[in-house]
Amino acid sequence: MKLEELKKIAVIGAGIMGTGIAEVCARGGYDVALVDISEEILQRAKERIRKSMERAVERGKMSKEEMEKALGRIKFTTNLEEAARDADLVIEAIPENMELKKQLFKRLDEICPERTIFATNTSSLMITDLASATKRPDRFIGMHWFNPAPVMKLIEVIRGALTSDDTFNFIVELSKKLGKVPVEAQDGPGFFTTRFIVAVLAEAIRLFEQGIAGIKEIDTMVKLGFNWPMGPFELADFVGLDTIYHVLEYVYNETGNPAYKPPLILRKLVLAGYLGDPRQKPGSRGGFYEYFKIPRER
Ligand SMILES: NC(=O)c1ccc[n+]([C@@H]2O[C@H](COP(=O)([O-])OP(=O)(O)OC[C@H]3O[C@@H](n4cnc5c(N)ncnc54)[C@H](O)[C@@H]3O)[C@@H](O)[C@H]2O)c1
Repeated sequence: MKLEELKKIAVIGAGIMGTGIAEVCARGGYDVALVDISEEILQRAKERIRKSMERAVERGKMSKEEMEKALGRIKFTTNLEEAARDADLVIEAIPENMELKKQLFKRLDEICPERTIFATNTSSLMITDLASATKRPDRFIGMHWFNPAPVMKLIEVIRGALTSDDTFNFIVELSKKLGKVPVEAQDGPGFFTTRFIVAVLAEAIRLFEQGIAGIKEIDTMVKLGFNWPMGPFELADFVGLDTIYHVLEYVYNETGNPAYKPPLILRKLVLAGYLGDPRQKPGSRGGFYEYFKIPRER
């Protein structure tokens, strides 16, 4: 399919990522159907998108009229079939679980027309594996966005073993049209970005476990010494400790590389319900900062 033919995008999953992706696509002029499993979640997503667009209006990035138009282009629905049956592109952003995603893609394969391209926002699961749940591995691709999607410029584009050049070029061109910078990485557990960042986070946690430096000290050194906007523990708490734990486990199992072995303290915190910064993760007891009773700067 050519980019000029793209009219309707179905975004599946209205969580942190799906909401941001739907916003960017609607602001880019596309009709969007945003799907989740409950009206309550969709209502929250709608409010988040409106607030985010209001901030864009305040900053002079769009007019009030453009905002209303963009909002009007998003349909919020729990009906997968209705959302997907005439979609030209599906972007999947449901939880990071291989079986759950495969089940969804199998169903989408039945619902969607031949032409529909399937993109997954998975941060770690192998694209070739997910694509094998469908009969269209040539029209299946990894389109890895970053949080918050309306702000972050990078899109990591990953071909599965059978992804066609047409599909790859389509997603690269679309990313550019949406104001993003697409960069290609090869398929493998965690691709480049996720594999890189979880290795760094795991090493910081191990250095803390070995008593080389404290949590606050490590974060300060990384921010002031390397100019990172967040230290590794702040970032781990922001992303979610359960997410990092599961990604490490997956990459470790797939590669056997001990750099990805989940640190013991991380496992303990996750088991105890410390899943990260409660402002990011409702229901979490806290992250490293709360467990070790370190005051947060922000
Ligand atoms: N959070 C991040 O920083 C980040 C960054 C890049 C990629 N990702 C990836 O994006 C995906 C989504 O992550 P998230 O943080 O937005 O998760 P999230 O938990 O915030 O949102 C997932 C949403 O999917 C919904 N859902 C579950 N099953 C569904 C189904 N069958 N049909 C429709 N909706 C369904 C849930 O109700 C939930 O609202 C994951 O694969 C994750 O690895 C996350």
